[in-house]
Amino acid sequence: MPLVSTVKDFSFYSDSEKQKKRYGSVVETFTKTFHQKPDFLVRAPGRVNLMGDHIDYCHFSVLPMAIEVDVITAVSKSDDNSVTIANTDEKFTTQTFDLPSDGSLVTIDKNQHSWGNYFKCGLLVAHKYITETYPEKTGSGKKPLKGLHALFDGTVPTGGGLSSSAAFCIAATLAVLKANDISDITKEDLTRITVVCEHYVGLSNGGMDQCASIYGEPSKVLLISFKPKLETTPFELPKTKPEAVFLISNSLVTSNKTETAPTNYNLRVVEVAVAADLLAHKLGLKTDQDSNLNTATLRGAFDAYFTQKLGEPHWDGKDINMGIERLTRILEYIETVFSDEEKKGFTTEEAAKAAGKSKDEFSSTYLSAFPVRYDLLKIYQRTKHVFSDSLRVLQCIKVARDFKGDSEDYLQQFGKLMNESQVSCNILNNASPPKCEELCRIARENGAYGSRITGAAFGGSIVHLTTVDRLQKLIDVLTTEYYKKTYPNITETELNEAIVVSKPAEGACVVDILDKIE
Ligand code: ATP
Ligand code: GLA
Repeated sequence: MPLVSTVKDFSFYSDSEKQKKRYGSVVETFTKTFHQKPDFLVRAPGRVNLMGDHIDYCHFSVLPMAIEVDVITAVSKSDDNSVTIANTDEKFTTQTFDLPSDGSLVTIDKNQHSWGNYFKCGLLVAHKYITETYPEKTGSGKKPLKGLHALFDGTVPTGGGLSSSAAFCIAATLAVLKANDISDITKEDLTRITVVCEHYVGLSNGGMDQCASIYGEPSKVLLISFKPKLETTPFELPKTKPEAVFLISNSLVTSNKTETAPTNYNLRVVEVAVAADLLAHKLGLKTDQDSNLNTATLRGAFDAYFTQKLGEPHWDGKDINMGIERLTRILEYIETVFSDEEKKGFTTEEAAKAAGKSKDEFSSTYLSAFPVRYDLLKIYQRTKHVFSDSLRVLQCIKVARDFKGDSEDYLQQFGKLMNESQVSCNILNNASPPKCEELCRIARENGAYGSRITGAAFGGSIVHLTTVDRLQKLIDVLTTEYYKKTYPNITETELNEAIVVSKPAEGACVVDILDKIE
């Protein structure tokens, strides 16, 4: 089992000099703030998802990569049980609290939106892990952990669809673990414990972001599968001529996942959970109850349809062609499963009836763990989005695997899949605001083979596929036609931060470089 690695220089960044200065400045600020030097530094990167959004919590595979922007944390151990967290970004004001002296877990008030809550998520999962794995360190949960002083510095834009929250929570978790002398956690364990971090602030997320941030590898994109188990397969995309690049442009439409969760993110999670139970009920399928809401998943319903209803062999997720063929077939089939009335959407009563549940049972199953608000549940549309984006993930892999040297053909095919995904994110998942549509349009007309919204969406960033020779023109046109027109007062710094070209980057790690900075 690979352990979370320790790096000893800055060569894993593309601009090591710039990063050396950044770390130097973080150490300096830490020393000024806490009147002592940090004991260690950890970091975790953001990610961009190339294909397959809002499908990880349905247990279909996704295709992200870790990117260079990251969250770094300088930490010193505390002599007592106090925790102080500070930030280089002054909008995140310093917070101090004591760890409960009886060894109980820290409490998190999800109704108070604060960056401190995200730190507490990392603290909480680290605490549970330490008590389970090293009970002697906490007297089996009766003694508090060691406190710490931490200074955070993040370059992942917040609410930008690039997983700043996952990067932040992973950096916080690593900080707490290492402050308690645990430096040998496996990537698998770190992923397992951090996947649920944001559940404590009220977000019913899947596992893509944490997996991408932890398993990131230079030059490699990641195929992340959730069935039969969480598994990451890193691989290189074809080397095209001219060289293909992914450009990320932040629409600057901020989408704070947690704050908007009841009408956006968590509502999608509810809609697809209802969809899975409804399909299982309509088709008489037996499914595992293994979603975040302890219901069926669309992957479970999909698998059961083929094995139980059609008597076909089980799909293990590995045979790409079989997956493509089945997803294509189920997409045709669901057109016949939903009536024209149902395709317009379901009221709570209609959805409960279609899923074979009483209204009370419906409320307690889907509407209590994470509160949501809606007029109609768009079950048919979300189902179609999930199956079609899952199909496109497999098609991207096939296009990459089948590459025989025809770069233009490969770029066109990959780009087309990205564009089709964007239509689905917009029309079927209703998760792409007009400004994001505009960014995609401008990019496609000016050198992008494909453009799609990435991550949780409802704002945030667009990922574009282009080539090195087209890159500068694309950046220039986005600057004049999107950024300067939409945000006339945008500063040069804001512009530079909004447009990111990133190669696949190194995953979360300890950065052992204190001896290399003055
Ligand atoms: P997405 O999941 O769509 O990629 P995101 O993770 O960037 O987006 P949110 O889920 O809204 O966006 O999480 C952002 C929150 O995470 C911030 O409001 C803050 O509380 C916390 N956070 C992220 N990065 C930092 C940071 N560098 N310093 C302090 N808090 C941070
Ligand atoms: C957020 C969640 C992920 C995933 C994406 C959408 O980033 O944290 O689990 O659902 O949205 O693909």
